[in-house]
Amino acid sequence: MSMDEAHGGGMVSAILSSVVLLLLLGRTADAQRSLEFFDLLPEDPKLYDKMRPPKKDGQATVVYFHVTVMGLDSIDENSMTYAADIFFAQTWKDNRLRLPENMTSEYRLLEVDWLKNMWRPDSFFKNAKSVTFQTMTIPNHYLWLYKDKTILYMVKLTLKLSCAMNFLIYPHDTQECKLQMESLSHTTDEMIFQWDPDVPLVVDENIELPQLQLVKNYTADCTQVYSTGNFTCLEVVFVLKRRLGYYLFHTYVPTCLIVIMSWVSFWIKPEAAPARVTLGVTSLLTLSTQHAKSQASLPPVSYLKAVDAFMSVCTVFVFMALMEYCLVNIVLGDSDAPPKPAAPPPPPSSSGTDTAKLDKIFDIATKENAMLLSGRSQKSSAGPPPGPTPAQRARMRALNIDRVSRVFFPFLFAVLNVTYWIMFAEYI
Ligand SMILES: *[C@@H]1O[C@H](CO)[C@@H](O)[C@H](O)[C@H]1NC(C)=O
Ligand SMILES: *[C@@H]1O[C@H](CO)[C@@H](O)[C@H](O)[C@H]1NC(C)=O
Ligand SMILES: *[C@@H]1O[C@H](CO)[C@@H](O)[C@H](O)[C@H]1NC(C)=O
Repeated sequence: MSMDEAHGGGMVSAILSSVVLLLLLGRTADAQRSLEFFDLLPEDPKLYDKMRPPKKDGQATVVYFHVTVMGLDSIDENSMTYAADIFFAQTWKDNRLRLPENMTSEYRLLEVDWLKNMWRPDSFFKNAKSVTFQTMTIPNHYLWLYKDKTILYMVKLTLKLSCAMNFLIYPHDTQECKLQMESLSHTTDEMIFQWDPDVPLVVDENIELPQLQLVKNYTADCTQVYSTGNFTCLEVVFVLKRRLGYYLFHTYVPTCLIVIMSWVSFWIKPEAAPARVTLGVTSLLTLSTQHAKSQASLPPVSYLKAVDAFMSVCTVFVFMALMEYCLVNIVLGDSDAPPKPAAPPPPPSSSGTDTAKLDKIFDIATKENAMLLSGRSQKSSAGPPPGPTPAQRARMRALNIDRVSRVFFPFLFAVLNVTYWIMFAEYI
C-alpha cells in the first residue's frame, strides 16, 4: 500500500512540474511569438471558406502568373514531347485574411503547408505528361504574404510537355511548343488567370538546343469553352526553328555526292559490265541507308516530308543511271553469247529470206564483239573492212547514249536541286 501511495505521489509531482514547465515555456514563447495559421484567419474561423475564392465586390478573383523558364531540352520528335525547367509564380489577393500584427517588412515568409487550409488557385498544366517537384535540399517552393494581403506562391518544377509537331517540311520546319496552365474547377465567373503586368515571362537567354533554335517566345490566353462553362487558361508559346546545319552536312551533301558518284558510270566503257552495275547498285544501297538515317529520330508519319521528296528524287536519279547502263548494254548487243562453232551451210533456195540475213548479221556481230573484248585489233584479221561493222556501229550508238547522259543527268539534277532550294529558301 505504502509503495503504491509513494508511487502515486511521485506521479502527481511529475505532472505538476511539467505543467509549470509548460507555463514557463508558453511565457517565453509569448515574448517572441511565432506566427500561427489561426492568426491569419478571421476572428471567427468559421467565416473562412477555403473552397470559395476571395471574390471582392462579386468580381472574379484575379490570379497573376509569372513564369521563368530556366531550361528547355530533350525535344523528342518521336514522342512529340519536350522538357522544361520553370519557376512558376502565382499571386492573388485574399482580403479575408488578417495580417500579422505590426508587420513592418514588405512581405513575410509563411509555411507552405498552410496553403492546405487556405483558398488557393487550382491551376494545372494542361499539356504536361509528367511534372517533377524537387525536394532537395528542401522542397522547392515558398509562400509569401505581402503587406496588402497579397499571397505569392512560387514553385520550381520540371515538366515533360507534349507538343504537337508537323513534319511536312522537315527539316525546314518550325515548331510551336506550348506550356498551358488551366483552372481545374473554377469557371471564369469565379477566377481569372492573367499574366503579370510587369514581367509575365522570362526566358533564359542561354538556352541551347542541339537541333532547334528558340526564335521567339510569347504569352497568350487559351481560355476554353467547355460544356460546364468557360475555364481560364494561360499559355507560354516557344517558337522553335530547326537548324539546317546538321542536315546539310549529314544528309544533303552526302546524298548529292552519291548521286554524282553514280554518274561516274557514264565515263566507264560500256563493256565493263561488272564495274558499271556494281557502281549503280552500291550507290542505290548507300542512298537507301542515307534515307533511313535521315529519319531515324522521326515518328513514322504517313505524309511525304521535304527530305523524303529530296531523297526519293535522288534515288530515282541513281536508279535511272543504272537503267541507262541497261539501255547501253541492250544497244551494244549481247556480246557475251558464245560464238557459234561453225557457220551453217547456206540453204540452197531460201537464202534470200530475212531470217537468214539476220542470222548472218548476228553472227558477224558476235564475232566482232568477241574480238573487241579479247583486245585483238580488227587489222589482225584478214584485210581491212570496207566500213564500220554492225558491232562498231552498235558500240558507237552505246557511246553516244553515254555522252548524252554525261550532260543530261547533271543538268537535270542541277535543275531539280535549284528548284528544291528555291522552294524551301523562305524557311531557311
Ligand atoms: C505594435 O506596435 C505598436 C506601436 O507601433 C505597439 O504599441 C504594440 O505593442 C505592438 N504590438 C505588438 C503585438 O507587438
Ligand atoms: C523572349 O522574348 C522576349 C520578348 O519578345 C525577348 O526579348 C527575349 O530575347 C526572348 N528570349 C529568348 C531566349 O529568345
Ligand atoms: C464563355 O465564352 C463565350 C465566348 O468566349 C461567351 O460567349 C460566353 O458567354 C461565355 N460563357 C460564360 C458562362 O461565361
